[in-house]
Amino acid sequence: MAKTIRIQDIAQHVGEEVTLEGWLYNRTDKGRLQFLQVRDGTGFAQCVVFKKEVGPEVFEAAKGLTQESSLIITGTVRQDSRAPGIPGGYELGVTGLCVLQVAQDYPIQPKEHGVEFLMDNRHLWIRSQRQWAVLRVRTTVIRAIRDWLDDHGFANLDTPILTPAACEGTTTLFETDYFGEPAYLAQSGQLYNEADIYAFGRVYCFGPTFRAEKSKTRRHLTEFWMVEPEVAFCDLDQLMEIGEQFISYIVQTCLRERAQELVLLGRDVNHLEKVVPPFPRISYDEALEMLAEIREQTDDEELKKLLEIEWGDDLGSPHETELTKRFEKPVFVYGYPTYAKAFYMEPWPGRPEVSKSADLLAPEGYGEIIGGSERISDPDLLLERLKEWGLPREAFGWYIDLRQYGSVPHSGFGLGVERTVTWICGLEHLRETISFPRMLKRVYP
Ligand code: 4AD
Ligand code: MG
Repeated sequence: MAKTIRIQDIAQHVGEEVTLEGWLYNRTDKGRLQFLQVRDGTGFAQCVVFKKEVGPEVFEAAKGLTQESSLIITGTVRQDSRAPGIPGGYELGVTGLCVLQVAQDYPIQPKEHGVEFLMDNRHLWIRSQRQWAVLRVRTTVIRAIRDWLDDHGFANLDTPILTPAACEGTTTLFETDYFGEPAYLAQSGQLYNEADIYAFGRVYCFGPTFRAEKSKTRRHLTEFWMVEPEVAFCDLDQLMEIGEQFISYIVQTCLRERAQELVLLGRDVNHLEKVVPPFPRISYDEALEMLAEIREQTDDEELKKLLEIEWGDDLGSPHETELTKRFEKPVFVYGYPTYAKAFYMEPWPGRPEVSKSADLLAPEGYGEIIGGSERISDPDLLLERLKEWGLPREAFGWYIDLRQYGSVPHSGFGLGVERTVTWICGLEHLRETISFPRMLKRVYP
């Protein structure tokens, strides 16, 4: 009996007879030779069926295989630099084939399809090579996130998804009926993380996050995954140091472990190789100056208009895009105007109109991947801010409590998984970085 192996391990089995369990991705008929591209979830391998070597029965079965037919195939692993596949350079000289099911008219052909059609068939589209490669990078990003945090003393304590109050503003809340009371799907686990640090020092939550965003941009999902580290006795500078170490580790792990997928996606990995600490830091005020320069230098009237911004406004996607086209590494923009961000941010010493906030913007036009800040630790200031933001004090009773019992300076941030994967893979749109995206106009499949 040949041993069953996974395609990703094929290089370790040269000269052996092995079995693969998978699906037909593509078939090329060369008369007495059938070239089968087989995928098994871990890779793609060329399997060569030679009429003379397998006999008529197996050969006819191979010839009858349609795209996505399920199969178990046995053969001898050969090294051949010409063999396509992931990993390339190995192929199977087929000795046996068992067809589980001949697939009926698979709707997604290797030709071009429209995005809406592909999104309607997302349950099948994820089998395609590019989609598979993106989601493989995603799994690596998620593992790297956990590894780095677990190795740096962060306790993973997850936070509730059903919550009684807003964290990131009341306009993007999804309301649910919680036994007759309103409850909202979590916009962020941050507020609960802030309670958790008083018990554990450094914590993170990592889970689905919901924003009823009415925006239809390529950077917004209504349901996305966010990892949120929170650290006691940590100021904004220390937070940025954590952020740059963390992001560099994630990117370098992808380069090490997912180089083939990145190449398949056509990603220029030179850009990613530069992602090592330290990252540049510019203040919001400097960002506005840079934007003014960019506006002056361009003849593009439309762009000029898009980049208009007044002190006090948050940076929007066009601003981030143009700014980060000018950076080779991710860049921290710190010190946003207080009223452009959330209620919980610590004010800048001596400049209360500025907050101790920092976003990390990915280079090459990708924009914000991290949003973070130092948090208000003074109870009176917190009460004032809740009032200013029109947030109900009752819903935040426990959060106010945290400022009464051993309050300390503390900071944290949130990293969006899909935005990070979009940047690492060099994609146009967020929708391909999660297996079943939820967007303004899409909850199917
Ligand atoms: O900047 P945001 O809104 O920050 C917070 O929620 C903080 N409470 C986090 C914290 O300090 N613990 O979101 C953080 C990140 C963004 O930088 C972005 O990467 C991602 O979450 N994000 C989205 N990703 C996809 N679709 C959306 N609609 C997103 N909104 C935010
Ligand atoms: Mg943000």
